[in-house]
Amino acid sequence: MPVARGDRARRVLGGGQVTRAAVVAGLGAWTPPTVVTNDDLAARLDTDDAWIRTRTGIRQRHVVGPGQATSDLAVEAGRRALASAGVERAGLLVVATSTPDQPLPATAPQVADRLGLGTVPAFDVAAVCTGFVYALATATGLIAAQVADSALVIGADSFSTILDPADRATRVLFGDGAGAVLLRAGAPDEPGALHGLHLGSDGSQHHLIERAGGGSRARTAVTAARREGQGEGHGDGTARDGYLAMQGRAVFAQAVQRTAESVRATADRMRWPLETIDRLVLHQANARITAGVGRRLGTPADRLLSNIDRVGNTAAASIPLVLADAAAAGDLRPGHRVVLAGFGGGLTWGSVGLVWPRLRGGPVPAAGPSDSPAH
Ligand code: UT7
Repeated sequence: MPVARGDRARRVLGGGQVTRAAVVAGLGAWTPPTVVTNDDLAARLDTDDAWIRTRTGIRQRHVVGPGQATSDLAVEAGRRALASAGVERAGLLVVATSTPDQPLPATAPQVADRLGLGTVPAFDVAAVCTGFVYALATATGLIAAQVADSALVIGADSFSTILDPADRATRVLFGDGAGAVLLRAGAPDEPGALHGLHLGSDGSQHHLIERAGGGSRARTAVTAARREGQGEGHGDGTARDGYLAMQGRAVFAQAVQRTAESVRATADRMRWPLETIDRLVLHQANARITAGVGRRLGTPADRLLSNIDRVGNTAAASIPLVLADAAAAGDLRPGHRVVLAGFGGGLTWGSVGLVWPRLRGGPVPAAGPSDSPAH
């Protein structure tokens, strides 16, 4: 009997039986060379290494240098993911970011051009720290719909460029980086096939993490001035609107609850009892958040992948960054049952499951500049 279009779509995105799956075939990540340690921050802010390590698990973070932008990180990560898949091209590019090079146009077309992908469809997805999971879901749907036979999905963010220099709570938390996977069309029962996608949002809590300026509400000075025909002006926003603002404690509580619920939803859709999940790959927001999710789900600590000590919270980049570091270290192996889960501004959350595949194109290097002995 022919499958109705709606049923087919539900089955693809709900993780039931699928005829054409999106299969992970490559992985790569990159962090910029400049490292900021906790002591570096303590020299400039009212904070200290002990507070940062015990309250967040972070020792250091990488930040972009002068003139370096999110697309530069995305290109490096994308190149590595293509190499790890043993291919030179992809039929679609999605960049998950909330720190694009500029508000308009999107960053992805430029990244596609620099990677030599030609005139492929390319666009950004903005779901803050859940961006990578939303981008995976988007690419999975487009592969199922036969828009493309392969997709490069990149999570890239440079939050250091939008932090208030005087805000110790956000300055210690965030770092910059990019990670990417190459997806190809394949069979649903292959290792690497993405299933059990679960996505959600709660816009009533949008104020918990926000960067108010630069959009159509708190307008930038130049936009508002031109609209009023004034030539000069300060618009509707203030200088602080350009910075990331976060209500840390409220976000923390939501992150633990929503992430745990999302992982459960994906595990249910996969029909995987929670104790059979080999690796839980959570957005690296704060080591106490990932530990809290692990406790709620009864997941032993050695099954929670972590690299937050080295890179901090890298927003949309964090899931592919920790995947790459774990794959390079041999802590993520073919055959592992893996659930990826993100949580972030919006609020947004989402999860997806897969059996980790053997990547044919070559080893995955740990995230970092290739010439750096630290990696
Ligand atoms: O990526 C997705 C979205 N983001 C997140 O998921 C982040 C979620 N939130 C967090 O990770 C944590 O809430 C923070 C790391 C931001 C803050 O940690 P916390 O344990 O929740 O601290 P708190 O906000 O409850 O503050 C406790 C105290 C406060 O002082 P008082 O009022 O008790 O005197 C803060 O002012 O710690 C103070 N504090 C600091 N002290 C030293 C806040 N930041 C710092 C700091 N150094 N960097």
